[in-house]
Amino acid sequence: MTLRYERLAQDGVARRGRLHTAHGAVNTPAFMPVGTAATVKGMWPEQVKATGAEIILGNTYHLMLRPGAERVASLGGLHKFMNWPGPILTDSGGFQVMSLSELRKIDEDGVTFRSHVDGSKHHLTPERSIEIQHLLDANVTMAFDECTPFPAEAPVAAESMHRSMRWAERCKAAFKDRPGYGLFGIVQGSVYPELRRESSEWLTRIGYDGYAIGGLAVGEGQEMMFRMIEATIPFLPEDRPRYLMGVGRPLDIVGAVQRGIDMFDCVMPTRSGRTGQAFTRRGTINIRNARHAHDPRPIDADCSCPVCRDYARGYLHHLFKAEEMLGPMLLTAHNLQHYQTLMAGLRGAIEAGRLDAFAAEVAEAESRGDI
Ligand code: GUN
Ligand code: ZN
Repeated sequence: MTLRYERLAQDGVARRGRLHTAHGAVNTPAFMPVGTAATVKGMWPEQVKATGAEIILGNTYHLMLRPGAERVASLGGLHKFMNWPGPILTDSGGFQVMSLSELRKIDEDGVTFRSHVDGSKHHLTPERSIEIQHLLDANVTMAFDECTPFPAEAPVAAESMHRSMRWAERCKAAFKDRPGYGLFGIVQGSVYPELRRESSEWLTRIGYDGYAIGGLAVGEGQEMMFRMIEATIPFLPEDRPRYLMGVGRPLDIVGAVQRGIDMFDCVMPTRSGRTGQAFTRRGTINIRNARHAHDPRPIDADCSCPVCRDYARGYLHHLFKAEEMLGPMLLTAHNLQHYQTLMAGLRGAIEAGRLDAFAAEVAEAESRGDI
């Protein structure tokens, strides 16, 4: 094991930990901003860091198509290429191929598809995905998997999961161990507890530096998602980090941390920021709404971010109405800091042994609504 994971405190099954990578440490539970195309859209890396982020996510699929993994490698790897010196996790491409590319054909060897950028034909296999993530110099490489479409009947979900497990074995064989770098396996199994257990045990037998839960937040709803986390966590090693992929809204994250998850990524704070949606402790607001036009208050009076310190809702409303690029930039910065403040709150609550009380406070504040 070449990615060291330290457990610092525990509250129930929730953990407060630290993941040590070649590019620095990550305090967990952690939220990873999404930097798909070697940029967290609209943000300088220094600003991303200032929100409290310690690790960001990049995408194999996008970077292999543009500018190409060999190009990134020749320019010094992803950290240098995008001027983010901290830890980077890259997703493996399986999920993005299925949701973004055209004319996909999946078989035992891998996936053949056409680029959504220029229509060019590509083939992605477990071995090539690992090679690309090495070329990018990702600290955390994700196994190449199939995110089982939802809904799926149990036999279809089983077949899909079994193929992802065979691919996970090939990923492990292709991965080159280096200090401060690691490979995470991805649990699949749709909404079937027995399949989640089988997948967890299969991956644990192979042995990875961390374990992700995939195939969730695809339309099954929060209650089912929580049930699937509960059906998975008992079968994963306690001394390794656990990552819930593509999740989520603040209360999804809180509930998942209460169930033993350590890492998250989601486009929610960045993507919704670009369209005018801002997160506050009292739920979300749309800054384009006319009710904010004359409002001199910040997005969230309790937020310590530079946007809430210096800018009124009325000004942000104007920027969005005028389609000025600063609007999306400022809302992205605020939203990312809102998420990082939530994560710091979760870490502190676990340390203090009051996670359930903290979770209840977050839920209560959100239920009050923006006034
Ligand atoms: N992102 C969100 N869900 C998934 C998943 O199931 N697999 C991968 N590789 N990435 C994801
Ligand atoms: Zn703010």
